[in-house]
Amino acid sequence: MKKMIPCFFLSCCIMKSFSQSVQKNENDYRPYIHFTPKSGWMNDPNGLVFYKGNYHLFFQHYPYGTQWGPMHWGHAISNDLLHWKELPIALYPDSLGYIFSGSAVCDIANTSELGTKNNPPLIAIFTQHNETENKKGSITFQNQSIAFSLDEGQTWHKYKKNPVIKNPGITDFRDPKVIWYESEKKWIMVLAVKDHVSIYSSKNLLQWQWESDFGKNEGSHAGVWECPDLFTLTHNDKKVWVLTVSINPGGPNKGSATQYFVGSFNGKSFTSNQQKTKWIDYGRDNYAGVTFSGTGDRKIFVGWMSNWDYANFVPTKEWRSAFTIPRNLSLKKIANEYYLASNPIEELDKLIIKKESTAFTSTAYTLNAATILDLYVNSKSNFTIQLENELHEKIITGFTFKQNEFYVDRTKAGNTTFSDNFSSKSVTKRIAEDSLIHYKLLIDKTSVEIFADDGLNTITEIFFPHLPFTNCKVEADMKGEITIKTLKACMYN
Ligand code: FRU
Repeated sequence: MKKMIPCFFLSCCIMKSFSQSVQKNENDYRPYIHFTPKSGWMNDPNGLVFYKGNYHLFFQHYPYGTQWGPMHWGHAISNDLLHWKELPIALYPDSLGYIFSGSAVCDIANTSELGTKNNPPLIAIFTQHNETENKKGSITFQNQSIAFSLDEGQTWHKYKKNPVIKNPGITDFRDPKVIWYESEKKWIMVLAVKDHVSIYSSKNLLQWQWESDFGKNEGSHAGVWECPDLFTLTHNDKKVWVLTVSINPGGPNKGSATQYFVGSFNGKSFTSNQQKTKWIDYGRDNYAGVTFSGTGDRKIFVGWMSNWDYANFVPTKEWRSAFTIPRNLSLKKIANEYYLASNPIEELDKLIIKKESTAFTSTAYTLNAATILDLYVNSKSNFTIQLENELHEKIITGFTFKQNEFYVDRTKAGNTTFSDNFSSKSVTKRIAEDSLIHYKLLIDKTSVEIFADDGLNTITEIFFPHLPFTNCKVEADMKGEITIKTLKACMYN
């Protein structure tokens, strides 16, 4: 039997008005607070770099249509990771090919000599995909190139001697992510090579040397490996290396998803004893995510909030796809094993313009802006949080005690017919073992991001109701020990 559980308090935090947030009509699916391109197609986040007070966000972009096409790098900047200003396209396709995914760094010591010590260059490292060669049947159509900027990312110049890494004869050879390896004062690149990651090193970003491979016998191999990242996180004063890699298809709930490995890196090779396949997000809409360069020990992750299973067909009109809310990554140890946790960046709090705390006894709540719900629920309870509109279309999220699973059910979420692969219920076994579940939801117009147990189980899903979801209902099974300790809502206008 289900019964409404009284919640102890609700605090409403009304946030500052948001530049891209106006809902013009019911059919406008543009989110309140998530980054979307002004127009055209977008997929992976690229070249995430923080430099001189600005976060730069580049993205896989086809500006002339809303389906995937010849790739450009779109560009946006922000000083708080939330208010983005879209800038002119940074990189256009050229005779070497489309501009596929990659990364960006600030070459502070001017190792590349493409700038000066006083004005170090920003360097973008990306794959060039030569579609003409591909069509001719060549297998060496993906190569790595670089471009540099001497004006803080406003204009970009392709390096004259591109490509800097030539294809050794493999069809999938892409998505370079470059980091600075301080102890040996050299650059390290991780590259996705079909069913594994290759690691390269360089002293100057121009000449690269192959060092090692990782992953042929590790993790999931149900699809092609793409968009790797390599970074450290500190856990109890210990630096631990993490390698993330996206895979398509083969995600835990079908299609595209991102797995990770916790291990060590010695400047040449990455090793991991991890036995289980672990996922950064168990939902269907967090793909190709990578972290920012230039943020020191803080690792900020952004993913593409879609899935190759249906990305080209979602029912938006002038633009297609959004990014996840930026997330802080951290490590947690459960039963002596490391897990990656993702949590929304604390900058979200800065958007609060009005804060209310009211004791309340109802579990029904009206949604009219992006909302954060923070709940604490006894883990011996089944509970649901349902978002609904006047047409009774709904998204149901929650937890089943018996299966020990979190889930998001979007089978009744409105428009699901644009692709046979869209309608789904995603489930994930709970990782944490505490008796209390901390369940945080970030709800936007067309997405929900769940951060359960402080980000140990994350589920990101998009949806397209015919009218906005305006009603939110929290329910839990009637059992003596069940308590929803707090319910907070934060709103952005
Ligand atoms: C991942 C991906 C990358 C590639 C890019 C092309 O979504 O397939 O491997 O570089 O998209 O747009």
